[in-house]
Amino acid sequence: MIPEDVIAEIRARADIVEIVGESVPLKKAGREFKANCPFHEERTPSFYVVPDKGFFKCFGCGRSGSVFDFVMERHGMDFPEAVKHVAARAGVEVRETGGRRPEDDPHRALREMMAFAQSWFRGNLVDEEIGATARAYLEGRGIGAETAERFGLGWAPDEWRAFREAALKHDFEEDDMLLLGLLKESEKSREPYDGFRGRVIFPIEGTSGKVVAFGGRILDAEGPKYINSPETPIYHKGRNLYGLSWAKNQIRRAEAALVVEGYMDVVSLAAAGFEHAIAPLGTAFTAEQAQLLSRYCSRAYLLFDSDAAGLKATFRVADALLQAGVRPSVVTLPDGEDPDTLVRSEGPDALRALLDDAVDVLERKIQILQEREYFSSIERKRAAVDRLLPTLRAAVDPTLRDLYVDRTAEVTGVRRETLEAELERSRERDGGSRGSVPPTAPPRAYSPGLRRMGAERSLLKVLARGVDWVERAAELVAPEDFDDPHYRAIFRALLDDPELRAPPASMDRVTAKRFDELLTDPDELAHGLDIFTKSVTRIRVLALSRRLQEVQRSIEAAQDEDEKLRLVRMKSALAAELRELDPTYWASATRSPVERTPNEPNR
Ligand code: UTP
Ligand code: MN
Repeated sequence: MIPEDVIAEIRARADIVEIVGESVPLKKAGREFKANCPFHEERTPSFYVVPDKGFFKCFGCGRSGSVFDFVMERHGMDFPEAVKHVAARAGVEVRETGGRRPEDDPHRALREMMAFAQSWFRGNLVDEEIGATARAYLEGRGIGAETAERFGLGWAPDEWRAFREAALKHDFEEDDMLLLGLLKESEKSREPYDGFRGRVIFPIEGTSGKVVAFGGRILDAEGPKYINSPETPIYHKGRNLYGLSWAKNQIRRAEAALVVEGYMDVVSLAAAGFEHAIAPLGTAFTAEQAQLLSRYCSRAYLLFDSDAAGLKATFRVADALLQAGVRPSVVTLPDGEDPDTLVRSEGPDALRALLDDAVDVLERKIQILQEREYFSSIERKRAAVDRLLPTLRAAVDPTLRDLYVDRTAEVTGVRRETLEAELERSRERDGGSRGSVPPTAPPRAYSPGLRRMGAERSLLKVLARGVDWVERAAELVAPEDFDDPHYRAIFRALLDDPELRAPPASMDRVTAKRFDELLTDPDELAHGLDIFTKSVTRIRVLALSRRLQEVQRSIEAAQDEDEKLRLVRMKSALAAELRELDPTYWASATRSPVERTPNEPNR
């Protein structure tokens, strides 16, 4: 017996066009394929294969069904044989287990909960009244009923407990809903409330084609743009790619995938006829996601924003793909456009033209270095090599790596052998250090200075990624809170123009160089919010402790009693603020605040 979920996975992964095409000469007709029906005599084709839906149908003889039905009918196989036949082509391993029934799936309840939620959200969107606003919103963004159906889009009404009530009526467990993020708890209310409210729902399917998570986009209200399901026993962000379950057949056929940033890009591209787009879920692109994609294609086109943050993401994703043997090309979108806005304002041909102009990732790096005149002096060439090496290192495909080494030697004038030796050295270093540091090793001891600079630098790195961040930071820290004059100047410049993505002409050279480094730092910040919060806190704690020290000195120097009293009051106000920000800091730093490193466990 073949387990139900394996059958589902085979069905989801199978390329029906490929399988039918093996014995029937199919011709593309729009989104479908047609041919003379193999099951009855005919002169004009009435046999259709619909890859999106994974079925075939003949309007002449009426035969229709799934890829399994086709194989059974065509090759005279029984169901298990047909499943194995298809599995072999889809690259799915069939393990027959004695009697593994769906009931044995330890997460069956969770999957059923998700399936229910999916159909409830979906039902709302298509409901005449309930879904009207959301449908209008989607229409306004070029997403019609057909595309919405293809991606299973839904609508979570803007009510506190509509989902909860519906699910309870169907005897689903509240605990499961909480675990899946479909419900949330708050201290303010006894009853959990719906996790997705007033949002368009994008279901996220796992490789087996079952819904494992949701992304919910707010309409025009206040709040985070997207809310996503948390990690759960059935959903691991880093192992899924949004859109893959719908796009994979097209990816195989095109022998390439389009990698975009978001849900909307995937859906909107599909609506415009580009059906091979996928998106990582969140910013990072994991090795597992790259591996997953490499099962379907060996080429990828990266369509990220063309700002500094987008470029950084591009190179990160490219490295992950190279390590999985997928060759990345970079598409440069016009400033401020994402694939969705581009196809809608300029049309599909504009995107096709950009895809034609895509350049290999190494070439793109070289272009950028050239624009910044990295090849103008020996010193800068050295820096250029350092920036190109990670890409060379990532390329696991020997032929590609060879090409890369050649090209790098050509543009930098560094000998092939030298580059190869460098690659070899860095590999040893990587391999050597990884295993040797015990996981419990104490954190490296930073001097307070380094840590402080770390916080200022980290915060600026986050700010250089997004206008929203700058606005939030403006409410929490002042330029004076920065200790380093260069970082302070950069912060001021960003406050003046949050969209600043290159040093302005007025910036002094040292500051400009620092800013440039921040912008081109290839380190992707996977946890922007976390870094933001931590560095804001640290900067404020250190700024406060500096002021405390100054006040303390003034108290000691004060001649006038009134003045002294005023300073003492000020000191205690500052101390209270500091205590609130960082209680551990205060506990360990009663003598000389500045010498201590905050947030570190007391020794
Ligand atoms: P974008 O802000 O580019 O959103 O974030 P988008 O997909 O283009 O959506 P529209 O066009 O503004 O409607 C890109 C991706 O980052 C994640 C989502 O996966 C999103 O698709 N994201 C963004 C979140 O998870 N949460 C957010 O608050 C914002
Ligand atoms: Mn967008």
